[in-house]
Amino acid sequence: MCGIIGYLGPKSSTAVLVEGLRKLEYRGYDSAGIAVVSGGKINLCRVKGKIKDLEALLKKNPIDGDYGLGHTRWATHGRPNEINAHPHQDCQGKIIVVHNGIIENYIILKQKLLEKGHFFRTETDTEVIAHLIEENFSGCLEEAVKRVVQLLEGSFAFACLSTLDPEKIIGVRSGPPLIVGVNDKEFFLASDVVPILDHTRRVIFLDDGEIAVLASEGLKFFDFSGQTVNKTIMELNWSPLMVEKRGFKHFMLKEIYEQPQVIRETISGALSLDTGEVILPNLAASAERLKACRQAVIIACGTSYHAGLIGQILFESIAAFPAKVEYASEFRYRDCLISPEDLVIAISQSGETADTLAAVRGLKDKGGPIIAICNVLGSTLVREAEITLLTQAGPEVGVAATKTFSAQIAVLTLLALWLGQAKRSLPKEKALEIMLELQRIPHRMEEILNCQDSIETLAHRFASYAHFLYLGRWISFPVALEGALKLKEISYIHAEGYAGGEMKHGPIALIDEKMPTMVVIPKDRIFEKMLSNLHEIKARDGLIIALTDSPADLGQQVDYLLPIPSTHPLLTPFLTVLPLQLFAYFIANRLGADVDQPRNLAKSVTVE
Ligand code: M6R
Repeated sequence: MCGIIGYLGPKSSTAVLVEGLRKLEYRGYDSAGIAVVSGGKINLCRVKGKIKDLEALLKKNPIDGDYGLGHTRWATHGRPNEINAHPHQDCQGKIIVVHNGIIENYIILKQKLLEKGHFFRTETDTEVIAHLIEENFSGCLEEAVKRVVQLLEGSFAFACLSTLDPEKIIGVRSGPPLIVGVNDKEFFLASDVVPILDHTRRVIFLDDGEIAVLASEGLKFFDFSGQTVNKTIMELNWSPLMVEKRGFKHFMLKEIYEQPQVIRETISGALSLDTGEVILPNLAASAERLKACRQAVIIACGTSYHAGLIGQILFESIAAFPAKVEYASEFRYRDCLISPEDLVIAISQSGETADTLAAVRGLKDKGGPIIAICNVLGSTLVREAEITLLTQAGPEVGVAATKTFSAQIAVLTLLALWLGQAKRSLPKEKALEIMLELQRIPHRMEEILNCQDSIETLAHRFASYAHFLYLGRWISFPVALEGALKLKEISYIHAEGYAGGEMKHGPIALIDEKMPTMVVIPKDRIFEKMLSNLHEIKARDGLIIALTDSPADLGQQVDYLLPIPSTHPLLTPFLTVLPLQLFAYFIANRLGADVDQPRNLAKSVTVE
């Protein structure tokens, strides 16, 4: 969850590292630091706080160097303060380490190092790595690192350098991601591709159990047993412009606005309206195995889990294909009965969520084919799954997932259509009806975005409420969950998503004039039932905001309306989630919250 950056090349290291940290800040933002080497001397700068605080300190006390490492932290071991901020050092201050993840056996290691006379400056688990390298160093940094990785337990990625073996940066991966960027005469190391994109699109993804050596004479790769590994350079199709705000106040707002285009890109080339077919070339090689599957087991966390819940309904209603959806963090610890006839679908924006990866690894050789629905080419999930369906959302920087959620449901819709087609459970007319309407979704989303002002006005009216209930049924229930998640994660307002029919079993006790209810009520098969829920709320003096494509049918029963265009009932989540994202955004912005970097969160959760 922390961000690592390393640079070796002719540019100002400080400038490259700080700019890189700015791009990585969404991974963690409670403290930050850099170490740069100049004239055989290490210069360190660390602060509690954000990258802007680091920049301010660097302005007062400038440092620069020929190469260096940087880090932005999401604290696990040791409070977020300057002392615990990375980079960390050995006793002599000649070895520098930045780290992401957890060294689970650090207490035992630290005890042994203390007994050998090492002294520790911090409360972190990371510091043991620097001292272990010091203890194992005999002239060559990578040789010391090869010995040290044998001693470490846990899930970690780290980078190190030393003035005792200069002009060299070592990267190690055993869990969280680490990527090498290659340009003419310069090398980069980073926790994800975003900071590298400013300089090069040529990257190498380290696999688990690999060590990268970036040196002025070139690149080398080893596995943890010391064997040389040949790696392939990949060319990314993301551009640096994609990670700029481009006039928007926040990345989240920009990413909400990108959704029509994201849907266009994600479905592009997949719909053949002439033949009524869905074409997903990545499934072709495994088509027979997929057809033989009897149910889908969908695994995901957070927003991706909500997309999975929508996927379940799409599979049932479009393909008559049974599906269950599981929180990866729970699933991995259950004794699940899974068979080779189960199609496993792992959904993850980042492809690096530790719980999702662990759940998928636990299923290998037990379940059937594994499909990854993921936004990041080269991510761990993509490399470990048998089949990948990429969401074409481009990099998502805001910590709150928005455009990747819509892209995930677009892919799930395509997959449901494909399964219905493959299993012959979907009549052609029904397929065509959905496909035609799916094509119109981007335009309908644009209609909603054009009403931004009225959503903003409504959000401001409700910004002072401390609690919200979000209700939906059937395919709108996951949307209610997602709307509530968006509000709580960026505005810190308590919001509960609930299935409308369950309200009478408990949450109705909460309803009063201080607890507004956001009701997601498109005109679908469950509309009449949701109307009864509205009556129940009104009878208890509850305030209602209705998100609907059928305002005329709601009459006086609701206090405020969020109108949306109509669409096919199975595609309403594309349209209902959008106003909820904007509603949460405008409330959080009104309250002055740090929308793109909400407290306590990180974009990709690479620890358990
Ligand atoms: O990268 P993933 O999709 O696997 O991430 C899963 C969750 O951590 C993520 O959706 C999280 O809930 C977001 N903060 C939601 O906005």
